[in-house]
Amino acid sequence: MLKDLPKNPVSFGILISKLHKKWVIGALFFVSVATFLDRLSVIVLKNLTDAISTSPIVINSVWIWAIWFPVIYFIAMSCWRGSGFTGMQWFMNFRLSAYQKLYEYLTLHSKDYFNSRFAGSLTNKISNAVDGIEYLFEKALWQFIPVFTGLVVYIIFAWLSDFRLGLILALWSLMFLGINFYFARKLQSYSYKSAESESTLKGTIVDSISNISLVHEYAYISGEREYIEKFVKKMRDAGLKSWLVSEWTLVLNGTLIFIFMLLMIATSIYLFQNHIISVGVVVMVVAIVGDISSQFVFIGQQIRDTVGYYGQAKEGLEEILSEHIIADVSDAKNLVVSKGTIEIDSIDFSYEKTGVFKDFSLSIPAGQKIGLVGRSGAGKTTFASLLLRHFDVQKGSVQIDGQDISQITLESLRQAIAFVPQDTSLFHRTIHENIGYSNPKATELEIKKAAKLAQADEFIQKLPNGYDTLVGERGVKLSGGQRQRIAIARAFLKNAPILVLDEATSSLDSESENAIQVSLEELMKDRTVIAIAHRLSTLKKMDRLVIIEDGKIVEDGTTDELLKKTNGIFKNMWDHQVKGFIIDEVE
Ligand SMILES: Nc1ncnc2c1ncn2[C@@H]1O[C@H](COP(=O)(O)OP(=O)(O)OP(=O)(O)O)[C@@H](O)[C@H]1O
Ligand SMILES: [Mg+2]
Repeated sequence: MLKDLPKNPVSFGILISKLHKKWVIGALFFVSVATFLDRLSVIVLKNLTDAISTSPIVINSVWIWAIWFPVIYFIAMSCWRGSGFTGMQWFMNFRLSAYQKLYEYLTLHSKDYFNSRFAGSLTNKISNAVDGIEYLFEKALWQFIPVFTGLVVYIIFAWLSDFRLGLILALWSLMFLGINFYFARKLQSYSYKSAESESTLKGTIVDSISNISLVHEYAYISGEREYIEKFVKKMRDAGLKSWLVSEWTLVLNGTLIFIFMLLMIATSIYLFQNHIISVGVVVMVVAIVGDISSQFVFIGQQIRDTVGYYGQAKEGLEEILSEHIIADVSDAKNLVVSKGTIEIDSIDFSYEKTGVFKDFSLSIPAGQKIGLVGRSGAGKTTFASLLLRHFDVQKGSVQIDGQDISQITLESLRQAIAFVPQDTSLFHRTIHENIGYSNPKATELEIKKAAKLAQADEFIQKLPNGYDTLVGERGVKLSGGQRQRIAIARAFLKNAPILVLDEATSSLDSESENAIQVSLEELMKDRTVIAIAHRLSTLKKMDRLVIIEDGKIVEDGTTDELLKKTNGIFKNMWDHQVKGFIIDEVE
């Protein structure tokens, strides 16, 4: 079902509502009956008037018609409440399923999708879509269905009294609705633009606030304010345009209703004058005209709001439900890791404009621990991303134990790889939950053990609530090194056959790093490991080093082999660092 979610708000709403069919049917039934009963009261009014105006008056029949009023009111009111009780189940359950489906779909988007969008604006888009569609359906149930079916009932009643009255009502309604729909379509594009500018504004504000420390550090508050102001103005202009069209629709509707009143009342009086209809029909026509004018005068407003919500919902759905770039192929199988060999076979990869790998091959036998070395921007993190299939290669293949990773399920691929990223991100949840994230079944004891192995237990114990301490958004309440150790603890707990460390210890001081190195060696045992590091000393114990430059392997061998090369690239880097800050660590 997830793949076939429609981007059209109405189709999406219908699809999700089908999951809660009984409530939908109940609500529609009650609304239809209640509408019919409400409209029926004009017939009672007609008959009551005729009964009163008959001479000699038959008081019994006056009583009977008069009693019908409260009776009809009571049954109609019960039906309206029935629609309320069933409708609330429909809409609340709709929200539940819609949020579930959209969130699930959103999480399956690629890293690139999230990299190029604001988190704040995406959150906004999900709620716009759900709120918008719910609003559309609520409006349909309690406003449009009663108004339109009621209109049909009125046309029938008027026609049965005299066809001319029915004809005027029918023709006028067609013209009125035609004009209103024409304007609603016009309004749609304005509302769409207005919604778009609003979510961009919100996204920009969230981005600005999440970087507020940067704004303060650079003392750039006024500049930032001006930057945001541009987006606020855009939003205002788009909002004004869309409102303007709707105000003019209101003016037009008022005029149309005025003409309608004149026509209906004049015709009915004329027919009465010529003894074609009774006084009761005249009173009924006046009641119908009164009811329709009060319902229709703001229909332009209603359509404006509805179209606005439709636009918001459409914009939200289109953004969230855009095609998954990285997705399981239709017959994807689970990855089976028997040994852990990795085979990169002449791949080409470039980001939109930046070429990173060109005809790049690398074969990593099972259990080998390789160190990936290269200048900043050489493509080391990209290499890890390709292995995790955050991006697809443009040519060639990446295989694990002979299985092309583009043909296996993403879930099984990512379960097989423990990845410690360059910049650790944490949930604003407890330390316990953050470490346990890599293995939801882990016991408290296992989580502690992992933290100990990652040299994190000591600092965690010192935190105000120990393992139950909340870490702040993205983990801001922890230092960079502490965050890294949490990420390493996660990797310990995940116990995956392939381990990828991207600068896993770069934020640690030498002492902590040396301590952690011992645990990392433990973690690396019996696994295939790719470790990326700028601090070359951390790679000393790797089985093999691969140096990349300009998307190609320029050196490949053991540390000793590469250090023996005169004028070797690695040797130069090594010498450079030894002369620098890590001289004390070299044996
Ligand atoms: N999401 C992205 N979209 C576009 N270009 C990107 C993206 N990520 C990285 N790049 C570009 O790809 C190139 C390789 O980046 P990558 O992050 O792989 O380098 P790196 O070797 O890990 O560098 P560092 O040592 O600084 O972490 C860089 O030129 C970078 O600008
Ligand atoms: Mg990197």
